[in-house]
Amino acid sequence: MKLALNDSSLLQTQAFINGEWVDGSKGETFAVTNPATGELLANVASVGQAETAQAIDAAEVAMKSWKALPPAKRSEVLECWHGLIIDNIDDLAAIMTIEQGKPLFESKGEVMYGASYLKWFAEEGKRIYGDVLPSTADRRSIVIRQPVGVVAAITPWNFPNAMITRKAAPALAAGCAIVLKPAAETPLSALALAELAKRAGLPNGLFSVLPSADAPAVGGEMTANVKVKKLTFTGSTPVGKLLMKQCADTVKRTSMELGGNAPVIIFDDADIDEAIKGALISKYRNSGQTCICANRLLVQEGIYDAFVEKFAAAVKEFKLGYGFDGDTTHGPVITAKALTDIDTKVRNAVEQGANVVIGGKPSELGHGFYEPTILTNVNDTMSVFREEIFGPVAPVFKFATEEEAISMANDTEFGLAAYVYTQNIGRIWRVSEGIEYGMVGVNETAISSEVIPFGGVKESGQGREGSKYGLEDYLETKYICMGGL
Ligand code: SIN
Repeated sequence: MKLALNDSSLLQTQAFINGEWVDGSKGETFAVTNPATGELLANVASVGQAETAQAIDAAEVAMKSWKALPPAKRSEVLECWHGLIIDNIDDLAAIMTIEQGKPLFESKGEVMYGASYLKWFAEEGKRIYGDVLPSTADRRSIVIRQPVGVVAAITPWNFPNAMITRKAAPALAAGCAIVLKPAAETPLSALALAELAKRAGLPNGLFSVLPSADAPAVGGEMTANVKVKKLTFTGSTPVGKLLMKQCADTVKRTSMELGGNAPVIIFDDADIDEAIKGALISKYRNSGQTCICANRLLVQEGIYDAFVEKFAAAVKEFKLGYGFDGDTTHGPVITAKALTDIDTKVRNAVEQGANVVIGGKPSELGHGFYEPTILTNVNDTMSVFREEIFGPVAPVFKFATEEEAISMANDTEFGLAAYVYTQNIGRIWRVSEGIEYGMVGVNETAISSEVIPFGGVKESGQGREGSKYGLEDYLETKYICMGGL
């Protein structure tokens, strides 16, 4: 791979189990490629059921002394890991751009975002409180919080760094150990994080990384193994449902951050320029490949035409290209299959009467590049309304009334993020409360950060990541009754 790093030892291609770099027991590997060029980047060790069980065994042992440490000691290690990530931001961003495709400025942003979870939970882990309940003369009722146990995590390719730290940081801060399967498309970012965790002094076994081309083998062991007490997953709703079913046999706790179908509702009384700015960021960030990306733009009829015209003018300014080119604003999508799925949705919409305002086809750049697209004359029977597009395609729907907007927003099995643009304070409350979503951005679409509870309702998942609520997902509540006083 042609990638000049300041520190080439961040580029690891073996699995990281119990503090050691190892190959899979069968010696198998899988190819990691650059989505912008198709170039082979590395052959990475592919582990299976046996190595997963080995990592879980090591996690269970390592957790015993880790959870017994004073929280401030655990915090020191997380702080150190955070510092090393910041020190190595250029290399981590370069690794991310080459394996995931996002422009370098977005990769740097993600590395900062990912590191922020370590810093946040290094602090938050010191503030795990218990409770003394109403008691009687001869007894005291006490609640203590304990780490949930060994955590298994499965993370996606769209945020190869931040989705890992968003899970590992609260798990480790709470006193748990974590075994992680990163997405097969982007294991190199995960392995670089493991190298830095090792340098930060994280004891062996607390954070193992299991790259694999055999997701059912690793996921099967994670969900069946009785030593794993919790599974945390970010990915598609169908896979989340499957994992939840698999976890039922051992009654594991689960956190699921699944698909979305985010509406951006823009009312006639909105600041149209702010709405366009927000919609552009939300729709086209990471080339449309985030779970909270605007999936449906719902625009009130009075400003619809003006909105589409200005929105299209702004999209025309995008520069599709290679993530390392300085003027690139948007990169490729992750795989040829992803590109085909996006194109199929666009073609289906067009066959059903949609108009292509801009884009609407794969780019001449080839590989994973799809032209930033805007569709009008779209309706609720089309897959661009019903399904998560996960690509740079913005269907713009028209609505007449507030009630209709709420009903359109809720007309989906998903409920992750939604956005509302209006200047009317009463409407802000009515719509925010009336839509069924875990997160609502009002006159704002850049809603993510380490201090907020990220998560959804309905089939978008359960549990929250980040914030003080994110720690809860890694803690058990134990009631102790002291009698005979
Ligand atoms: C996601 O797409 O799942 C994460 C997006 C974010 O954290 O902003």
